[in-house]
Amino acid sequence: MISINNREFSRLTSYIQARLGIHLSDEKRSLVVGRLQNELTQLNVKSFSEYIDILLQDKTGNILNSLINKITTNHTYFMREVEHFTFLKETLLPQYLHSLKEKDLRLWCAACSTGEEPYTLAMLINDFFQNDSLAWDTQVLATDISDRVLELARKAEYSPEQILPLPQHWKSQYLRRNENGNFTFHEKIKNEVIFRKFNLMEPNYPFKRKFHIIFCRNVMIYFDMETKTELLCKLYDSLESGGYLFIGHSESINRESTPFKYIMPAVYRKE
Ligand SMILES: C[S@@+](CC[C@H](N)C(=O)[O-])C[C@H]1O[C@@H](n2cnc3c(N)ncnc32)[C@H](O)[C@@H]1O
Repeated sequence: MISINNREFSRLTSYIQARLGIHLSDEKRSLVVGRLQNELTQLNVKSFSEYIDILLQDKTGNILNSLINKITTNHTYFMREVEHFTFLKETLLPQYLHSLKEKDLRLWCAACSTGEEPYTLAMLINDFFQNDSLAWDTQVLATDISDRVLELARKAEYSPEQILPLPQHWKSQYLRRNENGNFTFHEKIKNEVIFRKFNLMEPNYPFKRKFHIIFCRNVMIYFDMETKTELLCKLYDSLESGGYLFIGHSESINRESTPFKYIMPAVYRKE
């Protein structure tokens, strides 16, 4: 096992924080060392200093991508924090049904991990609009910084245990069993989610149109206060006025530093 000294840990974590926003405190030292051992072996380097030098000089971005795949925490599951989906179904979608004359509902799932969250949104929307769904443009943009989770999300293959939280009628309507005994989504649902790689730390967001709804759940917990405040300003600018931001229930928004209006736990509106 290759160990990391104080200087190396500080160099590596400063770089990770600047590029990914992820703040790694000293308590995460053994986790970082453990998760990166294979990287060092594969690059045939003998110390973290050598690894960091290669990482900083790499022009291809491959070493950073590999680091991202190792260092991010991607835990997620279907129907996570189900109150949000209930609020969407019972309150927001009925409102948008009447107010969006252009019939385009723009949703962004901003740290989508392996796809459970955006596919839950796609099923919920499809279920809500039913026969009218063809008349509506409701594609969900789903982004994450990790190539590894995006690949899994696009594949959309889930084990019987993973799909347990889903309502039975969604399972029978939108999923089918494949030859491995796992479940995949029908094309109808897959086509409703568009996956892209995107780093929330980008200074300027490239989206042509603003969103009505942004889900940015359980990613800010990894950021420090300054990064979080900057991110919230960019999310605010990316929302239509009257648009909604959903964050994780263990996350919070300092109402003094951003103009979001509190609606219910972990739901905010741009006024
Ligand atoms: C714990 S998962 C949350 C998944 C889902 N939103 C949920 O609540 O279940 C956090 C995700 O944020 C992604 N992430 C971390 N830093 C990011 C960044 N700077 N830009 C975009 N995504 C990032 C990770 O790759 C990971 O998949």
